[in-house]
Amino acid sequence: MKAFIKTYGCQMNKYTSLVYREELSQLGYEMTENENEADVILLNTCSVRKHAEDRALGRLNSLLSLKRKNPALKIGIVGCMAERLGNKLFEISPHLDFIISPNNIGMIKEAIRGKSYKALSDEPSFPCQKGIKAFVPVSFGCSNYCSYCVVPYTTGCLKSRKKDEVIRECEFLLKNGIKEITLLGQDITSYGRDLNDGNLASILTSVSKMGILRIRFITSHPLGMNEEMIGAIANNKNICPSIHIPLQSGSNRILSLMNRGYEIEYYITLVEKIRKSLEEPSITTDIIVGFPTESKDDFSKTQEALKAIEFDSAFLFKYSPREGTGAYKLKEDLSEKEKIERLNHLIKIQNEISFKKNKCLIGKEYNVLVEGKNLKDKKFLIGRTDTDKMVVFKGEPSLIGKIIRVKIEDASTYTLKGEGYGLPT
Ligand code: 5AD
Ligand code: SF4
Repeated sequence: MKAFIKTYGCQMNKYTSLVYREELSQLGYEMTENENEADVILLNTCSVRKHAEDRALGRLNSLLSLKRKNPALKIGIVGCMAERLGNKLFEISPHLDFIISPNNIGMIKEAIRGKSYKALSDEPSFPCQKGIKAFVPVSFGCSNYCSYCVVPYTTGCLKSRKKDEVIRECEFLLKNGIKEITLLGQDITSYGRDLNDGNLASILTSVSKMGILRIRFITSHPLGMNEEMIGAIANNKNICPSIHIPLQSGSNRILSLMNRGYEIEYYITLVEKIRKSLEEPSITTDIIVGFPTESKDDFSKTQEALKAIEFDSAFLFKYSPREGTGAYKLKEDLSEKEKIERLNHLIKIQNEISFKKNKCLIGKEYNVLVEGKNLKDKKFLIGRTDTDKMVVFKGEPSLIGKIIRVKIEDASTYTLKGEGYGLPT
């Protein structure tokens, strides 16, 4: 039995696709890159940008011919679009078999068995995760109301899970052999604010003390990366110094229209603080180009910020108006072509920076958590540094799940190549 997963949108979706992958492999499905041979197709969707939704709907329509050839094929829409459009999706595409919202990943087993199955957000259910990495949601939704963002309207305002519930789930995962836990939340640095039940720094520290090999967390808001958070990362070696803090724009005028609550000067000082307090951290970001009224001058400020800060990598997006958000009523004065040109320009700048930064790692040694075989060439293994950089190196499968020392020998924009030679001292 084979399964095909197509992922749209943000970082969070990349993680949830990994969880689906694991769930499906426990059900006996092998992953395939070819949707024509799949028995199950999942489209892991994102509502944040209209373009991602349109692409997912287009793909869903094109799957009708596969369903005609193979009526046993199961097609599911998972992720935020399932939550946002709900039953409408079955009306748009009668060949759709199931939908699952982001907090009901655990319902995939039932979904595959039924027809027109829907699992929306009322009763959260998370799968029991196996393997090396696991993902633990600590909060849902967001109360920041950035003017471009649909999340507060689709997922709702911030809802944190109780601290002891999260801790119990992490303990269970650790006992089951998980080596790396990523705590998830759309606005994770606000964790606990709605409950008066601790904060992100305290939950990270508690999970760290359990003795797990690595802990990560996404996505932080710049205003939430305070001294306590930086201190927690500095004092606990297993909390990865890999910080994803969306900047969104380098222009204070646009940041204010976006309702981000900070200025570029604050952000630059924050990055300096993080780089001073942590040993070789990686800092990554999200940027939106072409926000309504973004002038040439505003865009130059974003380019300047990108060049001055030198992010390890950046997710760069073209602004997409989302109905119901504050910015939706603002007049869009840039054409699609101009937005694409701006986006391509930033991609070029960032790729050069990422490449330059990766090249600087050649000759150095890093601790790498070995995640598995390189699917493109099985003699090679794949792992990640604590800064979340992917490293490919030769090695025996017995190393999977261990942290080993790897010397970096070559680098490209997105990957490092190295030689593994032992356990860390
Ligand atoms: N248009 C373009 N990008 C957006 N993002 C969120 N909403 C929009 C939108 N309407 C981007 C932001 C956010 C990331 C997950 O998606 O950069 O950090
Ligand atoms: Fe959306 Fe802003 Fe909340 Fe991020 S912080 S989820 S961009 S409203």
